[in-house]
Amino acid sequence: MSTRPITMRPAPGTHRPRLTVVGAGPGDPELITLKAVRAIATADVVLYDALANEVLLEYARPGAVKQYVGKRKAHKSYTQEALNDLIVEHALLHGHVVRLKGGDPFVFGRGHEEMQYAQSKGIAVAYIPGVSSAVAGAGAAGMAVTLRGASRSFWTLTATTDTGELNPELAFAAQTNTTVVVLMGVSKLAEIAQIWQDAGKDNCPMAVVENATLPQQRIVTGDAQSIAAQVAADPITGPAVIIIGETVRHSIALPEPTHFNFSTQLVTHE
Ligand SMILES: C[S@@+](CC[C@H](N)C(=O)[O-])C[C@H]1O[C@@H](n2cnc3c(N)ncnc32)[C@H](O)[C@@H]1O
Repeated sequence: MSTRPITMRPAPGTHRPRLTVVGAGPGDPELITLKAVRAIATADVVLYDALANEVLLEYARPGAVKQYVGKRKAHKSYTQEALNDLIVEHALLHGHVVRLKGGDPFVFGRGHEEMQYAQSKGIAVAYIPGVSSAVAGAGAAGMAVTLRGASRSFWTLTATTDTGELNPELAFAAQTNTTVVVLMGVSKLAEIAQIWQDAGKDNCPMAVVENATLPQQRIVTGDAQSIAAQVAADPITGPAVIIIGETVRHSIALPEPTHFNFSTQLVTHE
């Protein structure tokens, strides 16, 4: 493969309104796809979420609008409806909007909703997948979501329903030998672990992986009986996935994620 930079030339005179929903990967900026880099580099507007690594904005051309629309900082927080309208407004005004989202945009990312809305307003849409924390969160901690002899499947769940209740599907998952990956679940860790205890699986291995793939990555490993107390003793503050199942027992030691030597030399703008 050639290592020459990809040269990005804005198409002259084109202001075709369009939306590309782009997966930024789980954190490490080198885990973005080349197709995603190309989309960012040709964007007129980049609307980015809290979990998309901001370093990736360096791929955008100097004149592009870069707007944070996530919920984690002390910024104005958009409702999903307001965000949908913002995307459409930017597309009509500027042309190519990139919606940059952490992980994969279709895994608890609302990327599909945003595309549907934009499409209903006559905006052309495209999707660029990303590496999801649902798989890479476990992988970065040396755990395979499927593993011969340990797990034939994996199940990715959100910890809660739309109304904030504990996801009732967790109790079904606890009846199986699948690898369970819970997103957005740390605040419910004790209740989740209790579900496995109630299923008679006190010793079921569990892990919490915080800031997966980033230099601040932290792994806490225990079982359904111990994990909540372990995490309470040293609380999780960053994004984290909960991994439940035998695969945790088979984790392999990996080198710790290092500070990346990030460079946008992959792309030049003309
Ligand atoms: C709104 S969901 C978005 C998931 C994202 N679309 C994906 O595919 O990874 C946010 C949740 O993803 C998980 N997450 C995202 N990035 C993570 C990371 N680097 N390490 C651990 N968990 C992460 C956490 O459970 C977090 O609460």
